Amino acid sequence: MKYALIGCGRISTNHIKAAVNNELEIAAVCDILDERMEEVLSKHDLQSDKSIKRYNDYKVMVEEIKPELVSIATESGSHAEIALYLIDKGINVIIEKPMAMSIKDADEIIRRSNEKNVKVSACHQNRFNIAVQEMRNALEAGRFGKLSHGSIHVRWNRNKDYYEQAPWRGTWAEDGGALMNQCIHGIDLLRWMLGDEIEEVYGVTKQQFHDYLEAEDIGMAVVKFKNGAVGTIEGTTNVYPKNLEETLYLFGENGTVKLGGKSTNNIDVWDFKDETEEDSRNKGLEEATSNVYGNGHTSLFKDVMNAIKEDRKPYVDAVAGRNALELVLSVYKSQKEGRAVKLPLKDFSSIDMKGEF
Ligand SMILES: NC(=O)c1ccc[n+]([C@@H]2O[C@H](COP(=O)([O-])OP(=O)(O)OC[C@H]3O[C@@H](n4cnc5c(N)ncnc54)[C@H](O)[C@@H]3O)[C@@H](O)[C@H]2O)c1
Repeated sequence: MKYALIGCGRISTNHIKAAVNNELEIAAVCDILDERMEEVLSKHDLQSDKSIKRYNDYKVMVEEIKPELVSIATESGSHAEIALYLIDKGINVIIEKPMAMSIKDADEIIRRSNEKNVKVSACHQNRFNIAVQEMRNALEAGRFGKLSHGSIHVRWNRNKDYYEQAPWRGTWAEDGGALMNQCIHGIDLLRWMLGDEIEEVYGVTKQQFHDYLEAEDIGMAVVKFKNGAVGTIEGTTNVYPKNLEETLYLFGENGTVKLGGKSTNNIDVWDFKDETEEDSRNKGLEEATSNVYGNGHTSLFKDVMNAIKEDRKPYVDAVAGRNALELVLSVYKSQKEGRAVKLPLKDFSSIDMKGEF
């Protein structure tokens, strides 16, 4: 399957790794900066592979290469425009998170990909973590019983050096703040586990330490789900002196699970009323990862390849991408209006937050 990558920055190495692991034909890479393409290819010993074409313009690349699958790993503000261009050309896409910066763009991605029968996956790779899959399997098997509540805590550190790596970071138009960038994976997991359907969100965001950014560095929210469950979100880049945890709790009448580690890749607590000997393999489970982005890209790419072959929706589809985005934007809107926000959000965009801090 002919594959191409657009955007060869920090996260792109996980994309090339996933392509190599899944034996995709890497036909081309694209970046506006030549050295970025060489950097990522050399990380995988592919720098002298002349069969991989290099492009500065993704439209020219698509015209000449005609890839079947493209992944988009540019700054967040350009995801929707690039994705819609590819979808209109009938190309299947994996879009890095957040899938878009506005509900309008996310809905357009869903509408046009359905119209064209193009597969779109939002890159929430942590759904494929072993620990997350185990939690999900227990949930789908009904082992938690009635759900009470769940919480996501993303307590990380991002300092000035990080934000100075690229001018788009922390801007409303291209990135958003701690919730939109660092916490959206955890927010996706919380929503997915607690039943997807949300009634109302109340949120507070603030900018405590990063006054050189436009966006928030801390966000807290209470989420009321239609099924009666309640969720809380705490997401920040303010933790001194380094990343502390990304932790997801799920509490049901018959079960308690706490996932921890750098990217919800460990199982810290695994307690069920109907416990069997098999449960012992999950207690204390740790999945080794080479960075905070985990191992999920390879599984996500594999699933999308199978979705194309089997003509089905990807496991993490465009609706999932929209839902995670909608929850972040609801917290933003709640902060802006100073009151709870009802879902679904009709339209809201991160740039509606301009001037908030
Ligand atoms: N899934 C994850 O866990 C994860 C982790 C980190 C980042 N991300 C997301 O991936 C995206 C990229 O983040 P990053 O940290 O790699 O950023 P980055 O700034 O390091 O890389 C972005 C790259 O895109 C290139 N680019 C920009 N516009 C382009 C265009 N029109 N055509 C071709 N190339 C273009 C830039 O030159 C740069 O090399 C962001 O949306 C971010 O939120 C996801």
